[in-house]
Amino acid sequence: MTNPILLNNNKTIPALGLGTWRSEPGKVKAAVQTALNAGYRHIDCAAIYMNEPEIGEVFSTTFSDDKILREEVFITSKLWNSEHHPDAVEKACRKTLADLQLEYLDLYLIHWGIAFKPSEQKELLDENGMIMTIPVSIQETWRAMENLVEKGLVNSIGVANFTTMMLFDLLTYAKIQPAMNQVEIHPYNAQPELINFCHSNSVAVTAYSPLGSFGAEHNRPISDKTILSLAKAHQKSPAQVLIRWSLQRGLVVIPKSTNPDRIVENAKVFDFELSDDEMMQINKLNKNYRFVDPSKRWGLGYFN
Ligand code: A2P
Repeated sequence: MTNPILLNNNKTIPALGLGTWRSEPGKVKAAVQTALNAGYRHIDCAAIYMNEPEIGEVFSTTFSDDKILREEVFITSKLWNSEHHPDAVEKACRKTLADLQLEYLDLYLIHWGIAFKPSEQKELLDENGMIMTIPVSIQETWRAMENLVEKGLVNSIGVANFTTMMLFDLLTYAKIQPAMNQVEIHPYNAQPELINFCHSNSVAVTAYSPLGSFGAEHNRPISDKTILSLAKAHQKSPAQVLIRWSLQRGLVVIPKSTNPDRIVENAKVFDFELSDDEMMQINKLNKNYRFVDPSKRWGLGYFN
């Protein structure tokens, strides 16, 4: 079920992975274990999710008894915004490696294209409610990311939450081209132009929050009447239709769940196909609506 997608450095990533954002410590361990048992071979992590130590316990036991080999599982993590300074990047990566109990990551992403002032609070606001930053360019951070590849700590590097223009700039100086841009994609935020730009430049795209994340139930694409009717037609669940739509667009997709039945359900997406007409019906639902936009919290328009 891994359905590999080729990256621009000739490595492959399984098209379906388990998302772990908002997977609470206490639940995430069982979720990752269930996913590996169900055939997932791709786990998406990040330092800021505050659950890497627990996920590391699963990796440690799984890989030590050789039932699944380390090389068989694609593991991603992300550099948090407060660690963008070139002197901080390697330390942050090594902390994630220690927490996940790994010797290397398959993919390490710059989580957001903004350098926060380091602080215990992770997100430090000034008196005007604006996020406090440091003058570190993406170029400096990227050079430090490239260094991680050179040192063998990570196989591939990429970015997350990058807009077309941010990527456009990065591609002009990157010695190692970014392998991935991980962004919010579901039918309400379909991002066709960004996907097209990435794919035309050999940057793979991962769809995060493919089910509409934590939006109110009635607002989420998972409850959309078009999705419900296609699910009925295919005798599949709405979540399976949403995941399938992303896969058929050539995306990597990482639905999050800590519910064992849903984890298994979300992987059963390789035994049916949406027709061109059905894909179009879903494409038409786009309204450029983001569930994940920290702009207000950070006091700036990140996507503006
Ligand atoms: P839970 O963890 O309780 O299963 P996204 O991946 O878009 O961020 O969506 C994650 C949200 O969708 C979580 O609230 C998750 O809840 C829920 N979810 C995951 N899989 C399914 C599914 N198959 N059906 C319905 N809801 C799901």
